[in-house]
Amino acid sequence: MVYLTRIEHFNAAHKLYNPDLTLEENIDIYGICANSNWHGHNYTLHVTFKGTVNPQTGFIYDVKKLSQIIVKNIIEKLDHKNLNLDVPFMQDKLCSTENLVIEIWHELIKYIPPEISLYRLKLYETDTIYVTYYG
Ligand code: NI
Repeated sequence: MVYLTRIEHFNAAHKLYNPDLTLEENIDIYGICANSNWHGHNYTLHVTFKGTVNPQTGFIYDVKKLSQIIVKNIIEKLDHKNLNLDVPFMQDKLCSTENLVIEIWHELIKYIPPEISLYRLKLYETDTIYVTYYG
């Protein structure tokens, strides 16, 4: 098996806020991330695929096509969007990086070609914070 990773970027706004809690409780948990007028991040998404090398191409899959799949089905739905308001698969969810990576997985896996499999997602919210998800 070979593991192939494609990196994509998107910029998006969000806030962390649980409507079941009071404003004071939200600020206690989320701090400035609960700011009611939103804030943004430059996210980086690492998508790792697993497959066997095709002897005719030397590839596990054409990485340009994989990039197109990620961009069309994930990046275009998130980039320059408000994650809380604009993204159907984040509706009614706490808009944390943890929940976002899980929902990206559920969305992206619908479009993965049968020759390869989705192995891992790493979603960087900042240079120093990222989450990893294996499905
Ligand atoms: Ni944030």
